[in-house]
Amino acid sequence: MTKRVTISTLDNMKASGDKFVMITAYDATFAKLASEAGADTILVGDSLGMVLQGHDTTIPVSLDAMAYHTECVARARPHSLIVSDLPFMSFSNADDTLHASTRLMQAGAQMVKLEGGTWLSDSIHRLVERGVPVCAHLGLTPQSVNVFGGYRVQGRTPKEAKSILADAVEIQDAGASLLVLECIPAELAADISSKLDIPVIGIGAGGGTDAQVLVLHDMLGMTETAPKFVQNFMEGAPSIQAALKAFVDAVKSGDYPKEEHTYS
Ligand code: KIV
Repeated sequence: MTKRVTISTLDNMKASGDKFVMITAYDATFAKLASEAGADTILVGDSLGMVLQGHDTTIPVSLDAMAYHTECVARARPHSLIVSDLPFMSFSNADDTLHASTRLMQAGAQMVKLEGGTWLSDSIHRLVERGVPVCAHLGLTPQSVNVFGGYRVQGRTPKEAKSILADAVEIQDAGASLLVLECIPAELAADISSKLDIPVIGIGAGGGTDAQVLVLHDMLGMTETAPKFVQNFMEGAPSIQAALKAFVDAVKSGDYPKEEHTYS
């Protein structure tokens, strides 16, 4: 039987320079396939609002929906670490954050993910104190699409870059175990990854992070207009299982992401 991945596994991988892989999954079948393909972590992402529910953004996703899909994934009993997204507005204050995280942890999550910077420090601290590991998410945080005025690369100006780095350091100090960096210049992501002790997972953030994550439907080529950082791993793959394995292998060997998938 494959050993279950824990945060210590991921910390050790960062220390030894071994890249690890996160894939989104929202049900038992795909969670099992992703786990068998070698994904170290599975993200029950609120991207399900777009790829499953057909919304334009992740904003309409409810806590009930996140708990339901987390239960579906957990029933596969994957060896991968299960991380679940706290949906829009479910973590706007520390008490709501504890309540929403309890739902997801009792549904089978082993860590919760939340989008935002320094303002989350107190909530992160309280979660960790009470036994809930946290993955933070900075850069292009999709729940803030209306503040950004679209899905735009973040951290391109020196001011933005400085602020993302400062948020990352503060979130680590508050007790976060993992950090996702989305759609920021590769150089900035590599700099943050080298400065932090906790593992950093990139999506559209170049090859200098400790790990990579992609949305399942994007990497299987099922999304109509995928962002430039996505590689369609179904191309040339004889099966979904083979495509998932190709993604895992490409990340671990450093073959993905390539220059064409990165922002400057
Ligand atoms: O919801 C999601 O799938 C995510 C990834 C894009 C990191 O947050």
